[in-house]
Amino acid sequence: MPGTFDRSRQSAVVRCVSKKFDQAISVYFGTITPDAIAAQGAHDAYVAALRAHGTEVTVLSALDKHPDCCFVEDVAVMVGKKAIIPKMGHASREGEQAAIIEFLSEGAEIIHMNSNCTLDGGDVVFLDDRYLIGISTRTNRAGAEFLAKYVKDAGFKVEFIEIPDSTLHLTTIFSSPRPGTLVAAEGHLSINQIGHLADEIIWVPNSESYAANTMGYSGDRVIIAAGYPTTRQLLLDAGFSITTVDMDAIREADGSLTCLSQFNA
Ligand code: GLY
Repeated sequence: MPGTFDRSRQSAVVRCVSKKFDQAISVYFGTITPDAIAAQGAHDAYVAALRAHGTEVTVLSALDKHPDCCFVEDVAVMVGKKAIIPKMGHASREGEQAAIIEFLSEGAEIIHMNSNCTLDGGDVVFLDDRYLIGISTRTNRAGAEFLAKYVKDAGFKVEFIEIPDSTLHLTTIFSSPRPGTLVAAEGHLSINQIGHLADEIIWVPNSESYAANTMGYSGDRVIIAAGYPTTRQLLLDAGFSITTVDMDAIREADGSLTCLSQFNA
């Protein structure tokens, strides 16, 4: 996860929204139907924001058989020059990995997880000298331990964090926008779980949990979702300069900012 490590985020791959986005996995199933056209508009704005921050972005075509294909964060975890390719935590997402493997294999060694492992990249947050790996409904302990071995071999520390079943991924409610700083949503993780991890923990109110998924860039710049005023003010008070992206249409399929990109440099 080198882009996250130094927050320069030089190079990323993203994938367009599937025509079947209305069938994406969503907690809103039965109440809101995700809208593929609106989501592609949000995706375009997201890519523009990454490019405005200096990231070279490769845009892959949608996989129209895979409603969740735009959520490329989940399908690989970079550890230095190794790309760890998980068995996806939800069976419907198996098969999304192939095009990302092809892209990453130009610069990275591809490592496939064992068959007893499941993991989504959305359960991994990089914090300075360590990888934080969520144990969730998507990431099992075998998957976390598989990844941890490669992380330790690369010289980083690892911590596992148990995620409540009501929360999709670690990145759903947690991020590290600059060295030594975490942003966490109230009501999902306890101070006992994460209090020791960072000097500065910015707790956002539970009602704005979605905004805890931030994308930090060097120089205290951060991209956040639009529409979360308390979080925005907390981050301004903490010295960040802020760019917002309207993520409402992506949120309808349980996606956040980080879900949409895979950084490979
Ligand atoms: N809709 C994103 C996921 O559930 O993986």
